[in-house]
Amino acid sequence: MTDYPTLTVVTHPLIQHKLTLMRDKTASTSDFRKLLREISQLLAYEITRDLEMTTKLIETPMTEMEAPVLKGKKLALVSILRAGNGLLDGVLELVPSARVGYVGLYRDEVTLKPVQYYCKLPDTLHDRLVIVLDPMLATGNSSVAAVDLLKAAGAKRIRFLCLLAAPEGVARMAEAHPDVPVVTASLDDRLNDKGYILPGLGDAGDRMFGTK
Ligand code: URA
Repeated sequence: MTDYPTLTVVTHPLIQHKLTLMRDKTASTSDFRKLLREISQLLAYEITRDLEMTTKLIETPMTEMEAPVLKGKKLALVSILRAGNGLLDGVLELVPSARVGYVGLYRDEVTLKPVQYYCKLPDTLHDRLVIVLDPMLATGNSSVAAVDLLKAAGAKRIRFLCLLAAPEGVARMAEAHPDVPVVTASLDDRLNDKGYILPGLGDAGDRMFGTK
């Protein structure tokens, strides 16, 4: 439990161990990417644990049975570019028929405010569970802007999946969108004056794509 009612921190030992390997500044780009993919699947398992189920009649080699299957429309996964793509691949492996959208937001380095440069979403969002993917919930500015945009596009049920969250970002998201649960691997200490998470892991995009 945390002080944040919308937040779930997944404390599974495998996630925590892999996260420590990722945080280490000596981790290679390929290790970072591989670990992110693995953790994204473990987090996806958690964020989908209460999906609605129904049954369908199948025949096993032995007999007929009413077997459990997911109910309702396929999920929509929305990656916040570019770092969200590091979570997307792993989650898509678990939920291969999910619909996928992309939102491009960059953070203005001076104001720290989000600026939208790309948006392509599945055409129906109102009757799907939408999972927003961004490894770092830092100031919350871009995450809140992405959720604003998804709600404007009709999304009614939204969840937010991230690797690390700062208290500032969780509070900002809870204030703007109290109906959006946030699932993360860690609630870190705070932000620095440039809006980076401490202790954090640095710039997630640069580390996964090897751009610095
Ligand atoms: N984005 C990152 O990649 N890292 C941070 O610490 C904060 C935002």
